[in-house]
Amino acid sequence: MKIGVLCSGGDAPGMNPCLRAIIRAAEKYNDNVVGIRRGYQGIFKEDFWGGVDRKIDPREVSGLTNKGGAFLNSSRCKEMYDEEGVKKAVQILEDHCFDALIPIGGNGTLSGARDIGKFWDGQIIGLPGTIDNDLLGTDYTIGFATAVQTGVDAVDKLRDTAGSHDMMFLVEVMGRHCGDLAAYIALAGGCEVVAIPETTTSIERIVADLRRFKALGKRSIIMIVAEGDSLGGSSEVMTALKEKGCPFEMRNVVLGHVQRGGSPCPADRVLATKLGCFAVDALHQGETGKMAGMVSGQFVLTPLDEVVQGHRRVAEEVEKLIDRMSI
Ligand code: F6P
Repeated sequence: MKIGVLCSGGDAPGMNPCLRAIIRAAEKYNDNVVGIRRGYQGIFKEDFWGGVDRKIDPREVSGLTNKGGAFLNSSRCKEMYDEEGVKKAVQILEDHCFDALIPIGGNGTLSGARDIGKFWDGQIIGLPGTIDNDLLGTDYTIGFATAVQTGVDAVDKLRDTAGSHDMMFLVEVMGRHCGDLAAYIALAGGCEVVAIPETTTSIERIVADLRRFKALGKRSIIMIVAEGDSLGGSSEVMTALKEKGCPFEMRNVVLGHVQRGGSPCPADRVLATKLGCFAVDALHQGETGKMAGMVSGQFVLTPLDEVVQGHRRVAEEVEKLIDRMSI
């Protein structure tokens, strides 16, 4: 079987161990795995790692378990946004006799995979690779755990200086549609306030909470704001809090793309390895048009159509836990 593998969209720590797992798992079947460079762009540019007919040797992916970024490079590819582009990609896959495709990425990547599947007879198994943890069909996406770790490291450091100066820090984290990254960083970092895309950020309520915290003797505050919160991020939240008389002196820190980098943590390496192997096995069992994920510790395949129809939302119990802890 000739399998193309690509990483697309925002890179995520764990994409590299996932690539390694796919190449090594495919050895059992004597498959020919081809690395497609820079996501879907690599199909249009016919940019294949070492050539389109070369079988990658498992030794060539040695040492990828702990490497951050995307070894194959990644991109967002505008040509995939219209049907003509998708059909062109299909033609190129056919010209090069690909039998299967494993795209690793988030919602945009998997939407592209679903669209290719409408016109292509080859098999497709997508893998969830994004720090956002916003995909349906899996409890955790590859990259999320490392990004949480990165956020918590930053929060721990900011807590030191917040404590020294009796200050409040707003920390903006990524997450346009799902507040999981914000919520997990807030929980693990012991943060007092969190604003997520799933709920409306109420400045009045937050100021009332902050006044209560001050009265209780709290001297430092960390508020995590998801970039997709209802006010549009931490800078907007800070301005609104100032206007409504926030009782703490504030500073704003935007973590930005720092969250996408770094060596994948063990949880991401393990998830990437499990899902990479599962995807290859699924192809050999004849599966197609699905995303491989893990739900409650079990491997699951969810139709791409279902995966891309919406976004995961923060679990209610996580929201409640944050509230319960901020006293
Ligand atoms: O989807 C992953 C992600 O990192 C999001 O968290 C973020 O909103 C977006 O990508 C940023 O994308 P770009 O690097 O294209 O600005």
